[in-house]
Amino acid sequence: MQTPKIMRRTAMAAAAALAMVSLAACGGSDGGDGDGSADGDLIRVGYSQLGAESGWRTANTESVKASLTEENGIDLTFVDAQQKQENQIKALRDFVAQDMDVIAFSPVIETGWDEVLQEIKDSGIPVILVDRSVDTTVEDAYLTHIGSDMCIEGTMAGEWVQENYPDAKIFELQGTMGSGPQIDRQRCFGDIMGDNILGQASGNFTRAEGKTAMEAALQTYPDLDLVFSHNDDMGLGAVEAIEAAGKVPGEDIKIVTIDAVRDGLQALVDGKFNFVVECNPVFGDQLVDLVKAIVAGDEIPAETVVIDGSFDQSITQEEVDARLY
Ligand code: AHR
Repeated sequence: MQTPKIMRRTAMAAAAALAMVSLAACGGSDGGDGDGSADGDLIRVGYSQLGAESGWRTANTESVKASLTEENGIDLTFVDAQQKQENQIKALRDFVAQDMDVIAFSPVIETGWDEVLQEIKDSGIPVILVDRSVDTTVEDAYLTHIGSDMCIEGTMAGEWVQENYPDAKIFELQGTMGSGPQIDRQRCFGDIMGDNILGQASGNFTRAEGKTAMEAALQTYPDLDLVFSHNDDMGLGAVEAIEAAGKVPGEDIKIVTIDAVRDGLQALVDGKFNFVVECNPVFGDQLVDLVKAIVAGDEIPAETVVIDGSFDQSITQEEVDARLY
């Protein structure tokens, strides 16, 4: 017999502030069949993806869809918000109206979620925050977060530049303004290399806008000799702009990026990028484990940090070819 939904949800909300959550201790087991679903029912998950702006996002969506499957006990409703917060808020409200068992979402920017998060909290539906962060006044607005540490990524990029090009004249291509990765990567890179930054502009995490921003930067800062790009796609747009301006990316202008999708690593092998920090998008398997644990009333961590590495030009073509995304 499944623990009544309302009872389960009250227990979840109360425990959300703890570093480790034990729902079993609060409300008992749901009597599930071992795959996390109650009495063999599928777990109904509403997932609001923020968009399809980058190679990273495409890989992340594929990972989520490959893991949140009926075979894994999940009935997934997946909605792409096309990088618009209003679309995400609408999807979240729909999930509440549909009385989902679990809501997961990756917020396009950090702020503006208070009202809808309060509505979800009042409904008692547990929330998994995926990839990006929120800045909200709602207490215990989500049960758990899974994603990379975006500050550490900025730090890794900054430390590499400090060690290899301490006198670099840097232009920073920022992600979507107000998003968690933009804020944290900028802050933590800036803590190390802030004095060397000539200018910054957003490329909204897309290749096309990265190229446009880079074209303008080449005019405004003719002395720039290093680009720090908050993702591979904008870095690839920068490569196009630099080549069109008659300069050699990776030589005349060094390029440091974040993500490590295959196109980014190919640019590293080709000598057009100089250093790439990983932001691993393939965590659908960990996400499905969290969903099942929540419904089963098992202990879950408040935070699951996806581990990232980094790559320099010593990477081989074979390693790039073997990359899954
Ligand atoms: O939130 C992760 C970031 O979002 C990735 O670095 C970027 O490529 C994506 O758009």
